[in-house]
Amino acid sequence: MDNEEANVATSKIGSIFAVRFTQWLPGAFLLGCIIMLFTAVYTVFESYPVPLLKYSSIGNQQPIIHNFSNPRSDVYEMIGDIRLNGSSATILMVSNSENNMTPVTVKPYARKADNCAMQNVREWKITAEANVASPRCSQTITTPAVVFSTAGYSGNHFHDFSDTLLPLYLTSRQFNRSVLFLVTNAQDWWISKHYTILDSLSSYNILDIDSQNEVLCFSRVIIGLKADKDLRADHPSPPHYSMLDFAQFLRNVYSLGRESVKDFHGFRLPRMLIISRQHSRRINNEGDVVDMARGVGFDVIAEEMGHNIDSVAHLVNSVDVMVGVHGAGLTNQIFLPKDAVVIQIMPIGLDVLPHFYDFPPKDLKLRYIGYSVSLNESSLFGKYPMDSEVFTNPRAIQEYEEFKSIYLDNQDLNIDVSKFRETILKAKELLEP
Ligand SMILES: *[C@@H]1O[C@H](CO)[C@@H](O)[C@H](O)[C@H]1NC(C)=O
Ligand SMILES: *[C@@H]1O[C@H](CO)[C@@H](O)[C@H](O)[C@H]1NC(C)=O
Ligand SMILES: *[C@@H]1O[C@H](CO)[C@@H](O)[C@H](O)[C@H]1NC(C)=O
Ligand SMILES: *[C@@H]1O[C@H](CO)[C@@H](O)[C@H](O)[C@H]1NC(C)=O
Repeated sequence: MDNEEANVATSKIGSIFAVRFTQWLPGAFLLGCIIMLFTAVYTVFESYPVPLLKYSSIGNQQPIIHNFSNPRSDVYEMIGDIRLNGSSATILMVSNSENNMTPVTVKPYARKADNCAMQNVREWKITAEANVASPRCSQTITTPAVVFSTAGYSGNHFHDFSDTLLPLYLTSRQFNRSVLFLVTNAQDWWISKHYTILDSLSSYNILDIDSQNEVLCFSRVIIGLKADKDLRADHPSPPHYSMLDFAQFLRNVYSLGRESVKDFHGFRLPRMLIISRQHSRRINNEGDVVDMARGVGFDVIAEEMGHNIDSVAHLVNSVDVMVGVHGAGLTNQIFLPKDAVVIQIMPIGLDVLPHFYDFPPKDLKLRYIGYSVSLNESSLFGKYPMDSEVFTNPRAIQEYEEFKSIYLDNQDLNIDVSKFRETILKAKELLEP
């Protein structure tokens, strides 16, 4: 996407405040914090009713606040006379009622239990008061608005989809693009990077809401994004969208041609993408793996996933099998055609992490094969004594920084090609008609 394209995006409201679009500089960001904490990990959510906060209404105003919060994110939907001041991060709901609501604070980023992710997310305050000295509206906007943050772990490919883009889809698709995005902690490069998706969800320019010193008035605002398990679409409140809906949406957004793998039989060899990693969890003998897979009968591409989502999406959609070592690159399975095969190579010790990439294939109607490396395929072999806890009990390593350093940042692989061949053969079998 280039700057010009972003600037001509049409908007009546947005042009005044729109976020400046600058060219995204690959690699120009650093995650401010480590990727996750064990304490922030939970796997099971119970379904819950959506509570309506107390509200009696008098006269013709019917202010409503829905509470869609769950352990993953705080989400409130307000309908009524809503006055939002971006520079003070406050949302006031004018009520005719005598009952004033206890103010609620919300950090609109979907990784609520992770203090590390949340520390740089701006906190918003929602109050509901009888119309005592309501701030005057500078503009009244009839389009519904969604408030979300691009802080947290934004910039990491997995988190961009799991924490923001998928939740944003679940929250805002219902408006069929008639929705205004109010971004707090707005980061130009992030908006620029994901502009194609954002533009498919909203026909308006995106507002950098923090810099607004005026009071914007709305009749419907959602603050926070509906999210549930990582890369899954299980949020229990309607409207219900599935991961298949999300994948179909992405195919439309990026004009991806292949809905299913069934189109290649008799025309060409099955295609395999091996996601290369150069900086950590590297496959040192990647060339041997490529040769073996070619020997089995695949057309093989080994490539690092770049920052241009459009080209990554097209590449991934063109293959029938995607192979990757545990890491953010596997997030790209969302672009695979149905019935494609995902092979995740699991280095030593990572079994104790949440299984981010094992479950989505089921929802996406993909096939999944896990390949756990043996000790002798890992660079950790020989680096620590055999009776070290590094091998015998990875869970004993409590400090995430230490865990990350040992298993994630300093472990490369030498794949046992004849052992891995079995997995590749199985993938080939799965693709047969
Ligand atoms: C909204 O729901 C969440 C989760 O059930 C709960 O923890 C929170 O207290 C609720 N907020 C209000 C203002 O009732
Ligand atoms: C918005 O909030 C800021 C900071 O509290 C305040 O200075 C400003 O007057 C408010 N704007 C309006 C229009 O009320
Ligand atoms: C969504 O918007 C498009 C284009 O404006 C329109 O053709 C379509 O009918 C709308 N869909 C729904 C469900 O409203
Ligand atoms: C590596 O270890 C596995 C499992 O313990 C074993 O089957 C295999 O033969 C070993 N490979 C080599 C090259 O030593």
